[in-house]
Amino acid sequence: MSAPVHPRRLRLGVNIDHVATIRNARGGEHPDPVRAAEVVAAVGGDGITAHLREDRRHIRDDDLQRIQQATSLPLNLEMAATDEMVEIALRHRPHAACIVPERREERTTEGALDAAGQHNRLAPIVARLTDAGIRVSLFIAPEVRQLEAAMRLGAPVVEFHTGEYAHAAGAAQAEELRRVADLAALAVKNGIEPHAGHGLTYENVQPIAAIPQLAELNIGHYLIGEAIFVGLEASVRRMRDLMDSAR
Ligand code: PXP
Repeated sequence: MSAPVHPRRLRLGVNIDHVATIRNARGGEHPDPVRAAEVVAAVGGDGITAHLREDRRHIRDDDLQRIQQATSLPLNLEMAATDEMVEIALRHRPHAACIVPERREERTTEGALDAAGQHNRLAPIVARLTDAGIRVSLFIAPEVRQLEAAMRLGAPVVEFHTGEYAHAAGAAQAEELRRVADLAALAVKNGIEPHAGHGLTYENVQPIAAIPQLAELNIGHYLIGEAIFVGLEASVRRMRDLMDSAR
């Protein structure tokens, strides 16, 4: 029997893209991101995150269906705001779709989606995905104007880009942390579920995990990198433990 879920438990979505990056380096089938998804499911991960990029540099189209068939974990599809990706999302019906920038002009200075500057382009996409029962998330910087833009777009979820936090140190990192915490509180106050991700590691995850309003973290590169040394099961477990003890 699985353990009861604490109401304040922070979900961990594991981004398995970089298993596919290694596979693609040789063009064969190994290592298979589906096997990574199965390991994540077996160790109690809460979801699988995968980014189908326009250039297919890691996850490929057929991986999506294979991942969905192999585990019952919710799939969070990271996707650019393009017609092609919307059609793919509508075909696969993932649990969630996180809209991310791929081109330079779609990004804010922090590399997150410029939801404020792209309302007209994003509005029909958010509406189509939502109508199909897909939970839309926008990958935005922890800024009031971006959160307000997400609210105007009717997105039920935002994921705050933690790259600036991850790359900062000392007082600058404390300031970035405060921005994420303030915006997470503001999101909840406005009925939006806040998530966070990008650049999180064993060393920097705990202050973020301690933000009580956050519902989910999406972590990939570090977990897959650590898995080379300790195995994916162990790297996911350690991250899970750090997240739990931060709360
Ligand atoms: N969340 C989103 C929206 C992402 O695009 C990514 C990958 O860049 C992540 C989380 C995970 O970031 P990382 O691989 O640095 O853990």
